[in-house]
Amino acid sequence: MSFDPNRYRDDFPILSRCAASGAPLAFLDNAASTQRPQAVIDAVSDCYQRYYANVHRGIHTLSEESTAAYEQARSTTRQFINAASDCEIIFTAGTTAAINTVAHSWGNTNLAAGDVVLLTIAEHHANIVPWHQLAERSGCRVEFLPLGDDFTMNDQLVAEKLQSLNPKLFAFTAASNVIGTRFPVATWTRLAHDAGATVLIDAAQAAPHETVDVQQWDADFVAFSGHKICGPNGIGVLYGKQKWLEAMPPFLGGGGMIDRVTTTGFTPAELPEKFEAGTPPIAPAIGLAAAMRYLQAVGLDDIAQHEHVLCKAADTALREIPGVQIIGPTPDKKGGIVSFTIDGVHAHDVAQWLDTRGVAVRAGHHCAMPLHDSLGKTASTRASFYLYNTLDEVERFVAAVKEAREKFARGGRRRRRRNPSPAS
Ligand SMILES: Cc1ncc(COP(=O)(O)O)c(C=O)c1O
Repeated sequence: MSFDPNRYRDDFPILSRCAASGAPLAFLDNAASTQRPQAVIDAVSDCYQRYYANVHRGIHTLSEESTAAYEQARSTTRQFINAASDCEIIFTAGTTAAINTVAHSWGNTNLAAGDVVLLTIAEHHANIVPWHQLAERSGCRVEFLPLGDDFTMNDQLVAEKLQSLNPKLFAFTAASNVIGTRFPVATWTRLAHDAGATVLIDAAQAAPHETVDVQQWDADFVAFSGHKICGPNGIGVLYGKQKWLEAMPPFLGGGGMIDRVTTTGFTPAELPEKFEAGTPPIAPAIGLAAAMRYLQAVGLDDIAQHEHVLCKAADTALREIPGVQIIGPTPDKKGGIVSFTIDGVHAHDVAQWLDTRGVAVRAGHHCAMPLHDSLGKTASTRASFYLYNTLDEVERFVAAVKEAREKFARGGRRRRRRNPSPAS
C-alpha cells in the first residue's frame, strides 16, 4: 500500500497554521529544519514538567530520573544508527558542533603541515570551514573533489584522487543539502580506508531520510543534527569509533568531562562524558530519542520512498517550465530536494512570491558557497520534502513557481533596464 502522508499530518500541530498571507502552509523547507510531532513536544514538555534536573551530579530523585532518561536517549541513538556501544555516541549542539569537535580534537592531534584533508565541492560550510580553520592552525591543505556534469561523482575519480592526494582525512556529505545528490558512503569509505584515510560523514541530510547504519558504513566519524530529524534544536550527534574517541583529547574543558582536577592539571573522564563538557542538552536529548522512535514507527524506508515520489513530481514539472534550471541530478540519484533557478529572476524574489502562496522554501546559497561558485550561480531556490508533505503541496509549489516566473521575469527585465547590474 502506498504511503499516505495525511495519516501523519495531524501529528504535527504547526502544519495546520497559515502563512502570513492567509494561505494554508505548505512547509517545503525541511532541509533547513523539520517540524516536530506532538510526541516530541510532549517528551520535552514531560521532562520539564515532571522530572527535570541536572544530570550525573545530583543524588536526588529528579536528578536520577533525568540522568536515566538522558542515558536512555543515548541508547536509543546508538540503536537508531546501529553503533556498537553507547560510549560512541556524543551529544553535541548539532552537526556543526560535531564536526568542529573532530577538527579540533582529532585534527589538532593527527594533522600537520603538508597533510591533506579531502572534501567534495558539494559540502555545507559546516564541513568546510572547520577544515580551513584546521589548515590555518596546522598548515594542512584542503582539497576538493569536483562534481561531474550530471551532479554526481564518479567512484573511479574518487579512488584516483584518494590514491594521488593520499589524504589523512576524507570528509564528505552523505547527501547534498543543495543538489540533493546521495553519495555512496560505504563504497567511498572503503576506498578511503584502502588509501589510508580516516573518514568523516556529514549525515545531516541522510539521517532524516534513510536508515543510517554506521557499522555498515564503517566510517570513523558521523555527524548529524536533531532539528533535521523532527527532534528539538540545540542537539546533535557525533558518532565516533571507540578507538578514535578514546585516543582523542577532549575538545571543550569544564564540568562533567573530568575525572579529577587539581591546581596543576586535570584527568579527563571516560567516554562519552569526556566530550560533553558543561551541562548537556538534557531535554533536547530526550526529545531527540522521541523523534527517533517516531521516525522508526513511521518507517524510514517508507519515508524515503514517499520523498522520492514528491521529488520526482516536482522535478518533472519544474523541468517543463521554460527558463527554469534544475540544479541537481535526476530524482533517482537524489533525496527529496529540488533546487532551481529561474532565468532573470532572483532566488529571493521566487521564495518571497511562494510565501504569498503559503509555500515555504529556502533561497540563497544554502551555506554552500563553493558549490554555487562551481556551478556559476550565486543563489538558488530550494524545495525540500518530508514525510508530511503531499502531492497537493507539490502542485501548489509548481503553480506558484510558474506565477513567479511570469511575474518577475517581466518585472526583472524592467528592473534590469533601470539597473544594469542586478545582484545576480
Ligand atoms: C549537509 C549539512 N551539513 C551540515 C549542516 C549544519 O547543520 P547544523 O546547522 O544543524 O549544525 C547542514 C544544515 O543545513 C547541512 O544541510
